[in-house]
Amino acid sequence: MAGVAGRLARLWCSGALSSLPVCSPLQVTRFPALQLHLCGPAMRASQKDFENALNQVKLLKKDPGNEVKLKLYALYKQETARRNYVDLVSSLSASSEPSIQVTPAADRKQPGSDALVVTSQDGITTITLNRPDKKNALTTQMYHDIILALEAASKDDSAITVLTGNGDYYCSGNDLTNFTDIPPGGVEEKARSGAVLLRDFVDCFIDFPKPLVAVVNGPAVGISVTILGLFDIVYATDRATFHTPFSHLGQSPEGCSSYTFPKIMGPSKATEMLVFGKKLTAREACTQGLVTEVFPDSTFQKEVWVRLKAYSKLPPNAMRISKQVIRNTEKEKLHAINAEESNVLRERWLSDECMNAVVSFLSKKAKL
Ligand code: COA
Repeated sequence: MAGVAGRLARLWCSGALSSLPVCSPLQVTRFPALQLHLCGPAMRASQKDFENALNQVKLLKKDPGNEVKLKLYALYKQETARRNYVDLVSSLSASSEPSIQVTPAADRKQPGSDALVVTSQDGITTITLNRPDKKNALTTQMYHDIILALEAASKDDSAITVLTGNGDYYCSGNDLTNFTDIPPGGVEEKARSGAVLLRDFVDCFIDFPKPLVAVVNGPAVGISVTILGLFDIVYATDRATFHTPFSHLGQSPEGCSSYTFPKIMGPSKATEMLVFGKKLTAREACTQGLVTEVFPDSTFQKEVWVRLKAYSKLPPNAMRISKQVIRNTEKEKLHAINAEESNVLRERWLSDECMNAVVSFLSKKAKL
């Protein structure tokens, strides 16, 4: 414990998470307690004030603790986004075509906008993770949106549902900046609500009634790997890798992988992945049964979609019923495992090991 505290103190003293709280509409809504402190003067805070505060915070003698550091990081990002916005608008004003309407990139990629794209065609509903610049990391809003998309897909008239990613990554797992969105109830409340969301999210995959296919277009990390054990088919490009660095992050397996992985690949190979964070190539993942088939990257999209379109023409009710016969024998068990994994993770998220790992990732991101 003393070692952890020492590392945290050093991380803090190095200025790794230094930032200035600046008021924004989002901040006011979510952190009413901070409003008094921030709103009046901070609304008019100049660049100079911002830099002064950055320096001031570096000089703090007392480590403010992980919770405050996470809040500071969130506020720092808002300020950075605001400055990027101003820069972008300035560059547009200087351009020769002033009539073009531009939505700032920072706004376009906000959760709940186009971070998830759902299309339906040829009997296939496709849910595409669409944050390529963030390697399709899953924001809190995206978890909610995927739940809604799966609920809608379970009732639509498509025969098959596909999850895939846009860009070079399939998905880099949980967006680690989700940890900075701390509600008034503090990190405990955050962990509690996170565990409920995780459980609901994974439940949707357990209960999904139709054939569910993962089209893994690139590397996959964390929860995007663990839930593969709940898919019916996993097609991967040979560029894909499969990585679950839970121990490195002070976390533990989710997505029912503590049960599905040992069952699929045997306990020892599962342990190498889930405990020691061994990264598998697509071919290794295929040999171990996690991936159904690997395709050369150059023909991946073409071959996979031809295959899926042919499958989608099979009688949908027969496919649905066959899937349910297979899944029903294990449903209850999977739900129990999901509940247990979510509970364990709730505790892990509050641990020093996890907090340290998240703070360390964020400090690298902030490049301070
Ligand atoms: N959470 C938050 N941000 C993430 C992210 C994640 N899981 N994965 C990627 N990003 C962000 C990066 O921080 C970076 O943001 P920036 O442009 O604002 O700096 C952007 O996405 C691009 O990623 P980058 O790290 O520059 O690309 P890379 O090719 O060098 O590395 C990863 C890609 C996925 C290996 C690396 O980003 C990473 O390790 N991410 C964390 C993965 C993780 O631990 N997930 C949780 C598993 S439980």
